[in-house]
Amino acid sequence: MTEETLRLLLSRIKDVPDYPQPGVMFKDITPLLADPAAFGALTDALAGLCSTYGATKIVGLEARGFILAAPVAVQAGVGFVPVRKAGKLPGATLKQAYALEYGTAEIEVHAEDLAPGDRVMVIDDVLATGGTAEASLELIRRAGAEVAGVAVLMELGFLAGRARLEAVLGGAPLDAL
Ligand code: PRP
Repeated sequence: MTEETLRLLLSRIKDVPDYPQPGVMFKDITPLLADPAAFGALTDALAGLCSTYGATKIVGLEARGFILAAPVAVQAGVGFVPVRKAGKLPGATLKQAYALEYGTAEIEVHAEDLAPGDRVMVIDDVLATGGTAEASLELIRRAGAEVAGVAVLMELGFLAGRARLEAVLGGAPLDAL
């Protein structure tokens, strides 16, 4: 990705102070999504990573991760698998508890959507504490699939999510654009 493209993406991410609670600086990506040049550059870059790492499936993390991962899956020509917050999937699921930057939650995936032989790329908008991404890696491995890598638009370095995730990635790559 060129410096010019990175500057474009950065210029379309809006800092919103004290949202959703005091002391949190929310990174709003809706201006980026509303700009087809920026959104297209982002999905191009993420699809390129999926191809480089030989991903055969893409997991998107609810909710903002869905917005990025779904078009990337179409562009990369591989299947999209939603990892959802608990209680939203109708079939048999694998479920994993995790801690957020603010609060706790559970995520789950349809067990039949991931299988041995799959190489799975996880895509999300933000890596903060790394709790959500770490839980998604657990789900992928419990399904018997392999982790191809994790790719996010932004990494909040001060929350040390990278160290947490690298400890469980088993050498798979973590890219923050
Ligand atoms: C946000 C973000 C990531 C996660 C990162 O999701 O989209 O999925 O938090 O935090 P972590 O690294 O500390 O786990 P959130 O569930 O807050 O909101 P969303 O449903 O709007 O995506």
